[in-house]
Amino acid sequence: MTTLKTILTPNIDIETIRADFPILSRKVNGKSLVYFDNGATAQKPKLVIDSITNYYTNQNSNIHRGVHTLSQESSVAYENARATVQKHLNAKHAHEIIFTKGTTDSINLVATSFGKKYITKGDEILISSMEHHSNILPWQQVCEEKGAVLKVIPINDAGELIISEYKRLLNERTKIVAITHISNTLGTINPIEEVIALAHVKNIPVLIDGAQAVPHTAVDVQLLSADFYVFSGHKLFGPTGVGVLYGKEKWLNEMPPYQVGGGTIKTVTFKKTEYADLPLKFEAGTPHIDGVIGLAVAIDYVNKIGFKNIEAYEHELLIYATEALQKIEGLKIIGTAKNKASVISFVVEGLHPFDIGTILDQLAIAVRTGHHCTQPLMNLYNIPGTVRASFAFYNTKEEIDMLTSGLQRAIKMLK
Ligand code: ALA
Repeated sequence: MTTLKTILTPNIDIETIRADFPILSRKVNGKSLVYFDNGATAQKPKLVIDSITNYYTNQNSNIHRGVHTLSQESSVAYENARATVQKHLNAKHAHEIIFTKGTTDSINLVATSFGKKYITKGDEILISSMEHHSNILPWQQVCEEKGAVLKVIPINDAGELIISEYKRLLNERTKIVAITHISNTLGTINPIEEVIALAHVKNIPVLIDGAQAVPHTAVDVQLLSADFYVFSGHKLFGPTGVGVLYGKEKWLNEMPPYQVGGGTIKTVTFKKTEYADLPLKFEAGTPHIDGVIGLAVAIDYVNKIGFKNIEAYEHELLIYATEALQKIEGLKIIGTAKNKASVISFVVEGLHPFDIGTILDQLAIAVRTGHHCTQPLMNLYNIPGTVRASFAFYNTKEEIDMLTSGLQRAIKMLK
């Protein structure tokens, strides 16, 4: 990602790609949909939708429980999906991949389980000013329960981490660093290689929230040496309700189960339970089988397009949109980091983001408005919210032109 600006000429067949996503041809308010709310959730290619239909039509059965054919087939498909995620993240072992409900669930799992084992009174947990609520609240809870202290790495006006402050905050009381790879609100791509390396000098583990990163870039957890890397399926063009926790084997082995119940055990008596090995120790109850299978299909799909192409194409969209939006009088972009993903948040002087979003919706342009689950960040910039356009590889420059003219129209109507 850090070499984004040097990547040229994306090999993207936009017509074919758009045809893969049925929803992109629907109308909203009689107009063709322009979908710029990819940061909230991405659209699904037909292959993913079909895989879910196929699962329920031909295969539906519970996994890891039955000797019958359907159960065997589902179990194989589920474990194959785990192998797909392992390969995608370049994890060392398949059992380092835990399926969860999503990013929020993954962070709650780590905060609760890691917190139970390793956090005590007076310890510190380090996050950043640009975290979304899901990477704040679980840590806040651990701090309240254990008497630990939540510390926050400040950012500069552009929305970049102040690394000298980060270095200053890392100390012998710091038990874990939890930080986003890409900010959902600002689009900032954090230098996570450096963040992890600096923490590791002091033997502090690092959790990376990859929710906004995995749709835009390839991730190699071994290269990064991330201790935990979490993301949601639905932002990666897969189904909702499924997510991933990658954790280094040594941590996951030492951490206690988060939720317990069916699937997590070796033996149970009324006196004592012996828990299963990884990964089942962390997957209580019947999982989101069709979601996991659909996620693997989504991962294969994006890899076929190729992240080099995706990064280069989305970078072109980002530059094009930034230049166009900057020309609009009274519009201010919030988040101007040197290293940015295809996310643009902005405010328009004198106008409420919600009103702008409502007019854009009449024009069939879907953006997100509000605080984007980052209220502390809004407080930092002293704004109630922003309008956010977040682009995926199926978006086009023509759609950005529609956003620009839609905005001009909205401003005229509202002023
Ligand atoms: N955190 C997600 C977003 O940014 C929901 O929209």
